[in-house]
Amino acid sequence: MPGYEFWGAEERKEVNDVLETGILMRYGFDGPRKGLWKAKELEEAICKNFGCKYAQLLSSGTAALTTALSALGIGYGDEVIMPSFTFVASFEAVISVGAVPVMVDIDDTLTLNPEAVRKAITNKTKCIMPVHMCGSMADMDALITICKEHAFILLEDACQSFGASYKGKMLGTMGDAGTFSFDFVKTITCAEGGVVMTNREDVFIKSEGYTDHGHDHKGADRGADLHPFIGYNFRISELHAAVGLAQIKKLDTFLTIQKRNHRQLKTILSQVPEISFRRIPDPAGDSCTFLSWFLPSEEMTKAVVNELRAQGLLTGNFYWYDNNWHYIRKWDHLKNAVTLNALHPELKAKIIHHATKDFAASDAVMSRCVSTAISLLWSEEQIKEKGEKILAVIKKILSNGKVTA
Ligand SMILES: Cc1ncc(COP(=O)(O)O)c(C=O)c1O
Repeated sequence: MPGYEFWGAEERKEVNDVLETGILMRYGFDGPRKGLWKAKELEEAICKNFGCKYAQLLSSGTAALTTALSALGIGYGDEVIMPSFTFVASFEAVISVGAVPVMVDIDDTLTLNPEAVRKAITNKTKCIMPVHMCGSMADMDALITICKEHAFILLEDACQSFGASYKGKMLGTMGDAGTFSFDFVKTITCAEGGVVMTNREDVFIKSEGYTDHGHDHKGADRGADLHPFIGYNFRISELHAAVGLAQIKKLDTFLTIQKRNHRQLKTILSQVPEISFRRIPDPAGDSCTFLSWFLPSEEMTKAVVNELRAQGLLTGNFYWYDNNWHYIRKWDHLKNAVTLNALHPELKAKIIHHATKDFAASDAVMSRCVSTAISLLWSEEQIKEKGEKILAVIKKILSNGKVTA
């Protein structure tokens, strides 16, 4: 999902604008910055592109989640229901605000299973956090219904799905708040960066202050700002915002290429009836950063992954089941609640409890899933070659009577 593949003169120009003024900070220095406000400009572009009222840029997607949770008032004792397949940042942010990450099973959408969400509800549940993994979406109608029934907060972790939508609404704009990451391997990049989007003025005002030590940003003199609450420094720099500003102007091009390449690869893999594909609740809204496919059994999938590796073809194909960053199976630090500072014993016990539950239903999906990252740089011929090589590996394993389906 890499905007970095399309890096060029546009990014250099935006960065040079900032370097020429020498004002690398997003706040203050009103005179010397000569009217350049790259972070503000990018926030406006995000609101315009995504149809949300407010956007607060910050230093990372992780900071965006932490900020959103804080601005939504989630903290001590609250339970946040989230999926077993995500990136470690999702639970890091929940723990950082003192809340409990309640992991639940995913289904063949690779996102929250709404039935599993219902089963995990307790009188401590405060928030549901769908994570729109690998460029595509959770079953938002079902999750929104649950949130409405129980008056839960809905926070979308859309860090991996910039530009994807669900039934005409952009991911990240459907709940109380949504987040994107602009790290180096995201659909558009700032090198490092993130954003909190919201339609709620109160959440925006709190997010804005929280990312800048609680400043109220009411005047031109930072030293005279009041601090209505305690915040942190999660600011983005003007240099990073400048990169993102060039990138967001290319978003439509990125999405068009991704969708075209995704379609071609999917057509090739569809030739084998044993291959099935991730269920996408609204296929028109898929940003197509990945093509995620399933084989009939764990044994077969592992054999295919091993053969892809042996033939030097595994790069760009992700077997998340064995990945240390993305799936609960390998999160031993979470399962043991290993932190550098002491946690409240009650929080620690709850973290361990929820991370060590039975995730057989998620295992049944993830152990059979491979996600192929879609490159913007592939030519038609390269996709054909790549697809046919993957097919040949799959056919070889399928024809081996020893591997069970
Ligand atoms: C689902 C998800 N959430 C949050 C993040 C955190 O974003 P960042 O790397 O910008 O901190 C990521 C990054 O990969 C992610 O994939």
